[in-house]
Amino acid sequence: MMISCDDITVQLGHRAVLDRVTFCARAGEVTAIVGPNGSGKTTLLRTLTGEQPYTGRITFDGTPLSALSPLDLARRRAVLPQSASIAFPFTVLELVRLGLTSGVSTTHSHGQDALVAQALARVGLDGYAGRLVQELSGGERQRAQLARVLIQIWEPVLDGQPRWLLLDEPVSALDIGHQLMIMAVARDYAQAGGGVIAVMHDLNLTSMYADHVALLGAGQVRASGPPEDVLTDHALSACYGCPLRTNTPPASGRPWILPQATLKAQA
Ligand SMILES: Nc1ncnc2c1ncn2[C@@H]1O[C@H](COP(=O)(O)OP(=O)(O)O)[C@@H](O)[C@H]1O
Ligand SMILES: [Mg+2]
Repeated sequence: MMISCDDITVQLGHRAVLDRVTFCARAGEVTAIVGPNGSGKTTLLRTLTGEQPYTGRITFDGTPLSALSPLDLARRRAVLPQSASIAFPFTVLELVRLGLTSGVSTTHSHGQDALVAQALARVGLDGYAGRLVQELSGGERQRAQLARVLIQIWEPVLDGQPRWLLLDEPVSALDIGHQLMIMAVARDYAQAGGGVIAVMHDLNLTSMYADHVALLGAGQVRASGPPEDVLTDHALSACYGCPLRTNTPPASGRPWILPQATLKAQA
């Protein structure tokens, strides 16, 4: 079971923001999309969610994306956008409950409020249900949004089909403890049979948690595969345009990425 895209091109203005991208993500795995600012990560994620017109072919567990109705999509995947602003003075409870209505309601035995409480606990927001979203810190707000996304597709597998979390920089505003907490949520979702595709900036977290990595540069896939094959000195330094060294401790087999200080600002 997988999301796959084949030869995807997205033209924005006069530019191919994605240029013949071929990519696939398997259920049961955490797939990370990495690459520098402007390399097309958000565009690729938005293309997979069905928000961005494209040429090429995308399939969700064998079904063409174009054949899935909005309701099918809401049942099968939930999306955390890179930034989501809230226009109304919602409480955390009201925000997270939006996930229940946009997806499909789950008939959870403990009822919906208990499910909301469970989702909040999962993202470290126990006791936050009555707080106003506007009054949260950036990191708390990001986790509240994630609770909304999780609740939409709470069970990772429904009727024998995997469901998919599509997350754009899910840990960008979080401290290190909460980064680990949220990456563990992603890993658990995949271990339970769901699929996770996450746009990531932190290459070390990517190395620790991703099963599969796609490295984008200027709208193209520069490398893809397991972290140890993709996160290499050469590929990363070339793609990010700065000196990066990796080191793989034998115990984990996963590379650590070590930036090298540059002595002068580069022109
Ligand atoms: N609506 C748009 N029109 C023209 N160019 C766009 C539009 N949206 C994004 N871009 C450009 O496409 C490139 C990729 O953007 P994006 O996918 O958001 O990058 P990333 O998420 O990797 O930082 C960027 O150079 C961005 O400026
Ligand atoms: Mg982005």
